[in-house]
Amino acid sequence: MDTAEIRRRFLAHFEAAGHTVVPSAPLLLDDPNLLFVNAGMVPFKPYFLGQETAPYDRATSVQKCVRTLDIEEVGKTTRHGTFFQMNGNFSFGDYFKEGAITHAWELITTSVADGGLGFDPEDIWVTVLHSDTEARELWKKIAGLPDERIQNRGLLDNYWHMGVEGPGGPCSEIYVDRGAQYGPDGGPEADEDRFLEIWNLVFMQEEITHVRAKDVFDVVAPLPQQNIDTGMGLERVAYLLQGKENMYEIDEVFPVIAKAAELSGKRYGADPADDVRFRVVADHVRSGLMLIGDGVTPGNESRGYVLRRLLRRAVRSMRLLGYDAPALPELLPVSLDKMKASYPELATDFARISQVAYTEEDAFRSTLAKGTQVFDLAAGAAKEAGRSVLAGEQAFQLHDTYGFPIDLTLEMAAEQGLSVDEEGFRGLMAEQRARAKADAKAKKGSHADTSLYRETLDTHGPTDWQAYTTLSTESRVLALYAHGTAVPASSQGSIAEVVLDRTPFYAESGGQNADAGTLSWDGGRAEVLDVQRPVRGLVVHQVRILDGELTLDTVLSADVDRDWRVGAAQAHSGTHVVHAALREVLGPTALQSGSYNRPGYLRLDFGWNGALSPEQLRDVEEASNRALREDLAVSAAVMPLAKAREIGALALFGETYGEDVRVVEIGGPWSRELCGGTHVQRSSQIGTVVVTSDASVGAGNRRVEALVGLEGFQYLARERDLVLQLTDLLKTKPDDVPHRVSDLMSRLKATEKELEKFKSAQLLGAAGDLAKGARDIGGIALVTHRAEGVGGGDVRQMALDIRGRLSDRPAVVVVIGTAGDKPSVVVAATAAAQERGVAANQLIGVIGEKIGGRGGGKADVAQGGGTDLGAIDAAFAAVEAAL
Ligand code: SER
Repeated sequence: MDTAEIRRRFLAHFEAAGHTVVPSAPLLLDDPNLLFVNAGMVPFKPYFLGQETAPYDRATSVQKCVRTLDIEEVGKTTRHGTFFQMNGNFSFGDYFKEGAITHAWELITTSVADGGLGFDPEDIWVTVLHSDTEARELWKKIAGLPDERIQNRGLLDNYWHMGVEGPGGPCSEIYVDRGAQYGPDGGPEADEDRFLEIWNLVFMQEEITHVRAKDVFDVVAPLPQQNIDTGMGLERVAYLLQGKENMYEIDEVFPVIAKAAELSGKRYGADPADDVRFRVVADHVRSGLMLIGDGVTPGNESRGYVLRRLLRRAVRSMRLLGYDAPALPELLPVSLDKMKASYPELATDFARISQVAYTEEDAFRSTLAKGTQVFDLAAGAAKEAGRSVLAGEQAFQLHDTYGFPIDLTLEMAAEQGLSVDEEGFRGLMAEQRARAKADAKAKKGSHADTSLYRETLDTHGPTDWQAYTTLSTESRVLALYAHGTAVPASSQGSIAEVVLDRTPFYAESGGQNADAGTLSWDGGRAEVLDVQRPVRGLVVHQVRILDGELTLDTVLSADVDRDWRVGAAQAHSGTHVVHAALREVLGPTALQSGSYNRPGYLRLDFGWNGALSPEQLRDVEEASNRALREDLAVSAAVMPLAKAREIGALALFGETYGEDVRVVEIGGPWSRELCGGTHVQRSSQIGTVVVTSDASVGAGNRRVEALVGLEGFQYLARERDLVLQLTDLLKTKPDDVPHRVSDLMSRLKATEKELEKFKSAQLLGAAGDLAKGARDIGGIALVTHRAEGVGGGDVRQMALDIRGRLSDRPAVVVVIGTAGDKPSVVVAATAAAQERGVAANQLIGVIGEKIGGRGGGKADVAQGGGTDLGAIDAAFAAVEAAL
C-alpha cells in the first residue's frame, strides 16, 4: 500500500468518526522550546493546556515532523529518520481511553478490502503504564487481547511528554510482531526490532514542568480536561505494509537510494557500510527538501545549522560512495517527485528550494577543497616526522574550521597509510559540545516568562487591535507590569509595560518596527518606547511615564505619532516594491528571506548568488521608482491560505496552515505578499526609493538597503551638496568632476615619482660628501652619520652607498636615522674591514646597548632600532672605542 494511500485511509477513518481534518502545520512553529515541530500534537498544544479553546472537539492530521537528536544514528538502525510524518487523532475533552483504543484497533485490524490497514490481530502487542489497569482492561474488552500480549512498562517507556514543560500523560503503545526471523520472542519488552512500535496513544491528563529526564519531572496540575493525543508513524506503517525492511525503502524514500546507486555505480544491499550511506543520503535529502520548503536556510546556528549538517552529510555520503560531482541537483528533484503529491507547494516553490540547496552544496565543495589542502599538509608533516598517527587536534581543527567530517578525515588518512588519534579528537569534540550546551542553557534561561501575559490574556481576552483603521483610540488600562510583576500604578520617570483594552499601535512583526507615539490621560503623559505581542492576541506597550502617575483602569488617549506611521508605511510598502522590482529584474528565484523596516529605511535579504552589477542595481531602483510613478493601488484582503496560494501570493513562512491570512497587493498581481504590516494607500505615497547598498550576508544570500520618502530625498540632496563642494573646489562643472579628479590623481602620482628621484639623488650626493669625511681610527675609515628624519630603507640605502665609495679600504659606516622619533641604525663594513676582524653584527650590539634597543645581521651589514634619540652621540663614541 502506497504511503499516500495509508495517509488517505487514516484521515478518512477519523473524518468518518467526526474528526476535523487539519492540514499539517509548517515545521517551524513559534515555540521557543522547540527547534522543529517534532510530534503531531505540537500545533494543538494551547488546546491541550487549556490556554485556547479548540475550535473542534476532535481533530485528525498528518503532521510533518523533524527530530534531530540522533542524526548520527540515521541509517544505522531501521527505525530512525530525521524527517517523518505522524498521523494523529486528537480529542480535546471529548473521548478518552476507550474511544482512542476503539478507533485505533478498528483502523489497524479492519481488512484492506474494507478500507482498513489489514494487520493480523494475532500480530498485535501493546504496552501500558504499570499502574494503568484501566487501559489493560480496555484492551482486553475492546480488542480481546490476551493478558500476555499486554505488557506493563514504567514511566520511561509509557509516559509521554514533550521533553520540556507542557502537557503529558500515560500512554499505551501498539506494536506489530514482524516474525521470528527478526529477533527473540517475548514482546516489545524483549526486542523492539522484531516488535515494531507503530502507534502511541497518549492519555493526556497533566501539565508537567522541570523535566530532568524522560522519567523525572514535576506534575504541575491535572489539565482542565482529559484529552487524547495519538501518533502513528506513517513511514513505519508503510514499510510494514510494503513488505520492506526499513523506512528508507518505502515508495516515498527509496527512489533517492536508487538514483544514488545509479550515480555512484554501487549497489544497495551489497555492503553494510555503503548501505548506511545510501540511507543517510535518502533521509537527509528528503529532510533538506522539507526544511528548505518551510523556510529554513543553511547557517551556523540552531535550525540553519541542522539543515547545513543534513545537506553536508548527504553530499559527503555520496562522496564516500564514490560520487564526486555535485549530487543534489541529481537527487533533490527525485525526492521532490515523491513528496509533491502530499505537499504540492514544494513543486511551486522548487526554484527557490533548489537554489538554496545547490548553493549550500557548492559552498561545501569549496570547503572540502580547502580542507583537503590542509589535510595534505598535516599528513605530509606527520609522515616527514616519521609519525603514523594524525593528531586529534588536527582532526578537530579540520572538523571545526573546515567542516571536515571525521569519517572523511579517517578515510583520507587511511588512503595515506595513516591512522588518526580518534580518542583525542572525540575528547575535543566533547569539550566543544559541553560549551555549546552551556551556551544553549544560558540562552534558554533568558527566555522571558510569558505566564504573566497569559494570565492577563485569560482574564481580559485579546486586545482590540485597531492599527489598520485608526491612529488614536480611547482606551482603558487593563494591566501594568514593572520588572516582570503586575503593579497597580506607575509613577513619573519609570518604565512600565501597559496592556490596554484597545490600541492603534502596531506591534513589531513581519520586519516592521513598532509604532512610536504617546498615551495621555487627565494629569499625565507617557511616551511609547516599544510595542510587542509576547503572546498571541495580547499587545503590550513599553512606556516611559513623562508626567503624572498611570494607574489601573485609567481611561486615556492612545495616539500613534502620525509622521512616524506615515514613514513606517512608506518603508514597509517600499520593501514590497523593492522585492517585486528585484524579482522583475533578476527573476523569480530572488526571493526574500528576511526584511526589516522603520520610517525612512528598509533592508531586504534575498536568495541570490554573487554580487549585483551596478546596472542591475540601477535597474532595480528604476523599476521601483517606475512603480511609484504608476501610482499603483495598495490593498489588503483576508483570505484562506489556500486561496492566497492559488493567486500566487508570496508566502514568507511561519504562517500557520489552515488559518486565514492577509494578502497585501501593490498594483494587483505585480506585488502580492502575505503580510500583516501597515501600508500606504497608493504606491506614489512612498515618495521615492533610493537603493544605497548591496552586500553579501552569507552564502547564497544578499542584502539590499534603501531609503524611502523624505529620507531618500535627503540622501540624494546630500550627494548633490557633495558634488557642489567638489565643483567649487575644482572650479569645474559637475559632469567634469570625475575627469578632473582622475587628472589630478595622475599628476599627483607623477609628482611623487619625481620627488622620489630627487630625494635619492640628494641622498647619493650626501653619501659622497660623507665618505670624504671619513675619519681614520687605527687604520679603519669610520663614517658616523645622524640622518635627520630619515627612516628604514633609506637609512640602509645611505649606509650601503657610503660603504660603496669606501670599498677599496677597511671601512665601517654607521648611519642612524631619526624618522618617527626613534633611532633606526644600519652598520656596514667593507670586505677589507671584515678581514681585519670587524663585524657589523657585533657593532650593532654595541650601539644597541647605548640607544636602548637591539639588532642583528651579518658581518657585512647589520641593522637595528632603539628608543633613545639622546644617546646617538654616545653610540657613535662607543663604536669608535670598539674599533
Ligand atoms: N505525542 C505522541 C508522540 O509523539 C503521540 O502523538 O509519540
